[in-house]
Amino acid sequence: MVHVNLLSALQGAALLVATASRVAVAAANPDLDRSVSLRADWMFLTRDIADPAQWSHGGKRFHYRKTVEDGFAFLEVFSCSLRRRDPFNAAKLASALSEVTQTTYEALNLPFQTFSYASDSDDSAIVVSFGGSSWTCTIGEGGSAEAYECVQPPSGPRNRPRGFGVVRDLRVPANNPPRRSPDGVWEAFVEEDNVVLRAAGSTDTAITLSRDGTADDFYDPETIVWSPDSTKFVAYRVRPGFAREVVRVEAAPRSQKQPIVHTQLYPKPGDAIDQEQPVLFYVDEALESIEIDAELFPTPWQLSRPVWRRDSSEFVFDYQRRGHSQARVIAVDSGTGTTRAIVTEEADTFVYADRRYRYDVGDGSEEMLWISERDGWRHLYLVSTPDGTIEPITKGDWLVRDVLRVDNEKRLIWFSANGIDADEGKDPYFKHVFRIGFNGSDLTRLTTVDASHEVVFSPDMSLYVDTYSRVDLPTISELHRADGSLVETLETGDISRLSAAGFRVPEVFVAKGRDNTTDIWGLIVRPHDYDPSKTYPVIENIYAGPHDSFVPKTFWPFGYHSGGDKVIGMQAQADLGFIVVQMDGMGTANRNKTFHDVAWKDLADSGFPDRILWHRAVAAQEPSYDLSGGVGIYGASAGGQSSLNALLFHGDFYRFAVAYAGCYDNRMDKISWNEQWLGWPVDESYSAASGVDHAEKLEGQILLINGEQDSNVDPASTMQVVDALIREDKDFELLVIPGAEHTVGRSTEPIDYVQRRQFDFFVRKMLNGTSI
Ligand SMILES: *[C@@H]1O[C@H](CO)[C@@H](O)[C@H](O)[C@H]1NC(C)=O
Ligand SMILES: *[C@@H]1O[C@H](CO)[C@@H](O)[C@H](O)[C@H]1NC(C)=O
Ligand SMILES: *[C@@H]1O[C@H](CO)[C@@H](O)[C@H](O)[C@H]1NC(C)=O
Ligand SMILES: *[C@@H]1O[C@H](CO)[C@@H](O)[C@H](O)[C@H]1NC(C)=O
Repeated sequence: MVHVNLLSALQGAALLVATASRVAVAAANPDLDRSVSLRADWMFLTRDIADPAQWSHGGKRFHYRKTVEDGFAFLEVFSCSLRRRDPFNAAKLASALSEVTQTTYEALNLPFQTFSYASDSDDSAIVVSFGGSSWTCTIGEGGSAEAYECVQPPSGPRNRPRGFGVVRDLRVPANNPPRRSPDGVWEAFVEEDNVVLRAAGSTDTAITLSRDGTADDFYDPETIVWSPDSTKFVAYRVRPGFAREVVRVEAAPRSQKQPIVHTQLYPKPGDAIDQEQPVLFYVDEALESIEIDAELFPTPWQLSRPVWRRDSSEFVFDYQRRGHSQARVIAVDSGTGTTRAIVTEEADTFVYADRRYRYDVGDGSEEMLWISERDGWRHLYLVSTPDGTIEPITKGDWLVRDVLRVDNEKRLIWFSANGIDADEGKDPYFKHVFRIGFNGSDLTRLTTVDASHEVVFSPDMSLYVDTYSRVDLPTISELHRADGSLVETLETGDISRLSAAGFRVPEVFVAKGRDNTTDIWGLIVRPHDYDPSKTYPVIENIYAGPHDSFVPKTFWPFGYHSGGDKVIGMQAQADLGFIVVQMDGMGTANRNKTFHDVAWKDLADSGFPDRILWHRAVAAQEPSYDLSGGVGIYGASAGGQSSLNALLFHGDFYRFAVAYAGCYDNRMDKISWNEQWLGWPVDESYSAASGVDHAEKLEGQILLINGEQDSNVDPASTMQVVDALIREDKDFELLVIPGAEHTVGRSTEPIDYVQRRQFDFFVRKMLNGTSI
């Protein structure tokens, strides 16, 4: 096959950008250096690309961050006068933050994307969060204060952590302050695993309300919730699950010569998890209690914290069955302890736990809003809570993404939706914003431009900021009145300098999936010097985790916004002489339930039948799209698993893979994500997707990259693949980064090194040693 002549193609391009300030990682190779530094070199070439806004001062103002020459700046707008100002002195804030964190921050590259005022009516301090910590910084009104100072706000008592949400860390004591009844008369807490009660504020010996609590079946003080009338409370009794620990050796710590052993509470699929049993305690003469019959909520995955009705007649909690085939809202009568299911979702496949939505109208005693996929699309329903009647609010071949606001008095809901223009061939992943009445009347559309919209309403709903873009439309930000009319265009992104440097906006490409009917949406990124008369090998960037969709839909190509938007990483790879693509195959989210269900108990599928057809559809149109030597593929985490599986299960099509931080065998990975898609109990579907169990099928060539201290995906997963490949006498490359986390080479150091290794692997393998 004829490939573009790499060296001559890239020499010209390398002159376009100044790289003088960067330390070259591979001094011997200017082409690789250029790709490695592309992100840093191009990052600040845009102007006026705004992030979604944030309101303050009761809607009198809003602020946002946007790109400016050499970085990012924050801007505040007064919504009445439209006057603009700097909300703070960025240089002073940068030096205050640098001082407390012992890290150097610059005014135009502050380490956060949003801020909020410490108090909504007070301009003297803001709160910012980054690197897992939050800081309160005094800035003085209008950013004029001399003394900028940042402190960490005092943190209140923290609840006991739970490993991936389902197993309590019993090494950490429960947060157990006396919990006072609303009338201030009583306080309840836990002593020696049992619930006790005493007069508020007294030091008397507490009365023991339960006697059945033991270390193996204890009352959890963090679950105690009093009824509003102070005559009763609920507490959950907990049978603790298996506290599995993952152990990692940090071979090369910075702090000492000798290795350090780390352990982490890390429940895995199939492990026993905490089982919660609600118990209702009456605070009256008899001091009785009722253990709530669990018939309606067997083998729970999780029970939410109970919520009382205002009249104390019942309490309510959410239930998800382990294995995810059923979800319910359970109401418990506080007089009798009898249960009823207000609403039940059943699935032959899965109910998606993280996307559940319940909104109690008022205290929920009459109505609640509910989201269900029962008709095949994700829609809003109005549930009459006394009798459980359920009426659709939204309907049609499209889906509700997020509920943005509910007005109980006007009985209106504002929400974002996907796919409402799909009939017209428009991208079904674009988010548009709508308003609808509780009774499903008066569906009103607020966004019209064919793009993905992030809308942020003012607190009183009189105004909103709409920030929208596409991968090929730089971000536009507009202020609108509630009726949709435009007040002012706030920002219009300018990418002229980026384009002049060689950036080409990705192209959107649509092809039919495995059923010859369903549209599969993806992106094509070409080298900056793409020449249609030449041929290019193809590399796919994959992430096929069923929890979302992943092809970027908004403009920002640099990867700081919604996860996975790393067009620039694809561009950097493409510039070395490839066409790089990404698509969302069946089995990912944000389409209909049937589309999503393809992933159920079949993570090896990863949408490959759709992906392969998509590639062939591009190749059928473009002679330069060269599939003849085999396709390359790379991805991280679940995308790492898919990258290896591409070579195991589709080795006739995919031949070269770079797999980062993969969960190669779902039995090795965290319980939450994996049981959501493969179910429980653990069955043969886990083995069917395992790169360890199928290592003998390896065709083609793979580079495995792993962070030694990955706390998301157990790094032993990679070593088990390595072990299996060795036993099968298969060749592979392995790069382990000591000390690195799950983000290895993607957003944290040594990002340049790891990126270079990916770029180099594909060049070596797919351009047949022409370079590098
Ligand atoms: C739906 O609700 C709106 C607003 O509350 C009301 O004006 C309208 O009559 C209702 N429509 C139906 C069909 O009940
Ligand atoms: C889709 O079309 C191809 C080619 O025409 C055909 O071989 C295949 O059976 C079709 N698949 C389905 C699911 O209809
Ligand atoms: C839902 O998606 C599936 C798979 O893409 C498709 O076959 C089906 O027609 C869709 N259902 C509706 C009602 O559009
Ligand atoms: C790779 O390059 C070598 C030496 O130029 C050549 O003999 C070989 O055919 C090439 N292989 C492929 C797959 O293009």
